[in-house]
Amino acid sequence: MSIVYDASAKTLSLNTRESSYQMQIGPLGYLLHGYYGRRAEGNFTSLHRQKDVGFSPVPYELAEKTRGFSPDTLPLELSGANAGDFRLPAVCVSLPDGRRGADLRYVRHEIRKGKYALPGLPAALDPDGEAETLSVTLRDETLGLEAELLYAVYESRDVITRALRLKNIGGGQMKLEKAASCCLDLPFGDWDLLHFHGRHAMERQPERQPLLHGETRIASRRGESSHQHNPFLILCDRHATEDAGDCLGVMLVYSGSFEMALEKDQMDALRLVAGIQPEGFSWTLGPGDCFDAPECLLCFRHDGLNALSQRFHRFLRRDLCRSAFSEKARPILLNNWEATYFDFDREKILSLAREARDLGADLFVLDDGWFGRRSDDRSSLGDWFVNEEKLSGGLEPLIRGVKELGLRFGLWVEPEMVSEDSALFRAHPDWALRVPGRKPFLSRSELVLDLSRPAVADWIFETLKDLLARYDIDYIKWDCNRSLTDLWGFAPAGELAHRWVLGLYSVMDRITAAFPQVLFEGCAGGGGRFDAGILSWFPQIWCSDDTDPIERLTIQRGTGYGYPLSSIGAHVSASPNHQTGRSTPLDTRATVAMAGAFGYELDPGKLSEEEKTRIRAQIRRFRGYEKLLREGDLFRLTELGDERDYEAWQLVSEEKDESLLSLVITRPRANAKPLHLRLKGLDPEGRYRMENYDVFDAFLPEPAEEQPGEYSGAALMYAGLTLPRMMGDYPSVQIFLKKTKE
Ligand code: DGJ
Repeated sequence: MSIVYDASAKTLSLNTRESSYQMQIGPLGYLLHGYYGRRAEGNFTSLHRQKDVGFSPVPYELAEKTRGFSPDTLPLELSGANAGDFRLPAVCVSLPDGRRGADLRYVRHEIRKGKYALPGLPAALDPDGEAETLSVTLRDETLGLEAELLYAVYESRDVITRALRLKNIGGGQMKLEKAASCCLDLPFGDWDLLHFHGRHAMERQPERQPLLHGETRIASRRGESSHQHNPFLILCDRHATEDAGDCLGVMLVYSGSFEMALEKDQMDALRLVAGIQPEGFSWTLGPGDCFDAPECLLCFRHDGLNALSQRFHRFLRRDLCRSAFSEKARPILLNNWEATYFDFDREKILSLAREARDLGADLFVLDDGWFGRRSDDRSSLGDWFVNEEKLSGGLEPLIRGVKELGLRFGLWVEPEMVSEDSALFRAHPDWALRVPGRKPFLSRSELVLDLSRPAVADWIFETLKDLLARYDIDYIKWDCNRSLTDLWGFAPAGELAHRWVLGLYSVMDRITAAFPQVLFEGCAGGGGRFDAGILSWFPQIWCSDDTDPIERLTIQRGTGYGYPLSSIGAHVSASPNHQTGRSTPLDTRATVAMAGAFGYELDPGKLSEEEKTRIRAQIRRFRGYEKLLREGDLFRLTELGDERDYEAWQLVSEEKDESLLSLVITRPRANAKPLHLRLKGLDPEGRYRMENYDVFDAFLPEPAEEQPGEYSGAALMYAGLTLPRMMGDYPSVQIFLKKTKE
């Protein structure tokens, strides 16, 4: 049993292999938070001593007896509003007569086998039948609000999921003003916040900062999870490193506007409230109506950030993503975007496909520009029929040509947007979001289709269905190239942003169910919607429009704190790089792209024979490492923020019998210090042979004497490895280790 109710102590304990979470049904039915941390059995309620701190209100019923019991100072499982707690609220409702707030008290709980589901929303599944669910019902009798807190415990995964269902149990209408998925009070500790900020072509830059008094917010108001902030954060002990110390990861399974707010209060306690962005949100519930807030994933590890990332990676791959591709080898693709942009015709595409086949790729992807009259990004979104000017004869002969080469075929779409210059917009101008009386804001010349309108969601589904039914398509790149503004449309203003996301999810759900054999890759102008909501259906997401491998080291590192490498779309592109103008060696580009869903995005026709030979070798190498890269445990070998001249990471198979070390020199130095590394995650007792020891694109001033040998795991982890001195622009290294005996 991973969920235990102790009736005498009135505690509910949730245990995973390495963590424990406890709550207690406290005086007057307050649901108190007891503990979340490293696994420990016991009753933790005595950790929270009641004390009069002044100016913290006491419930009326207790006021004669004590001044120490206040919802303002006690750790709570779900914070309300306008009811004695001045810290961040998680739930707030208002009634037509002006009453507003939420004062939630325990009513009942239930423990059951299996995993709860959230209608219309993505949520983790239970593929191995190990989840147990706890449902705790709280009630505000006065306002007629019921809150059902849902927790699912995945014992072997060290993951606890949380969700919140709000119900109007009163006789009239109620407005939800705030409905956060998760409220987590951490009364003790000295926490740093690690979060992932950025911008277009520079997504998910890891930033670690101490949490000081007051409020800190990580948020998106863009209608999408966004390039700027990611709905994932890690709270880590001030002294935690990649390999030691308390770390707590919080990830929203949501793709729309969100807020993750943190407050360090007057007693130095920390509260985290995470969920749908409350600004502009309001949701009307009639009598008996329910609202489901998106799911939130929690993982606690006492042994550092690497261990935390590994748990999220496994969970997202196995328990969250419902695509059959999630745990399978993905095709190595060649995408024509950076090779041609909009400038292509049938011959050009077929010649790229021929080159892709000759290099050893599996899949050719035709990107933007194949439809309507699209010759630049100003027109035709919504007109999902072939651009005959470019592709005379249509898609069918083109696809046939690609298939005859023995390749699979993939196609780009951007189904949620519409161009003003399109037949679709001319036919349905009311399908685009815009505030009446005002010209809409354009972004990349695009307008946003109102997915809150069921007819629009149906139209998108039918259009995609027709495309997939008509053509022999194996892969879809689903792009989304602008953020949402001008929120006015079918759904009421306060509901529109969330209903838009629900509309998107309904289309994703229906189309992936109808075409399970098609591999879908998410994309939003690069990585503007890289989140667990999208990953529930699509096993991979294009990570960034910046394909410069040196920039990608940071982008992919930031992304990899929460998301598995197999989900990170990463391609080898041309040099000099189109986004930064930097030149990097071909094999370094591959070393970096292999730490992701691997592919190419360049014109092989412009490469020399020597470069093509190298690409063939890269593809062979990748196939050899593919399973390890996709399923292995990721170890970052460098600490964030350290002054250093290289980036290094390592994958270790679950059985610890294989490992791949990758390293890229990011800054060549004169008279460089020896580059010494200690490996991680190996079996100290085992012996490992260096099956491959590849140094790419380096000039080695000293002869490499020792080289491939056999070492014990202990020697590699405790004494480490010193690499040969490498000179040149951005050389890289891959060392593949195989265990020879126990
Ligand atoms: C943005 C994507 O991130 C690119 O890869 C490419 O598909 C363009 N959109 C096409 O418009």
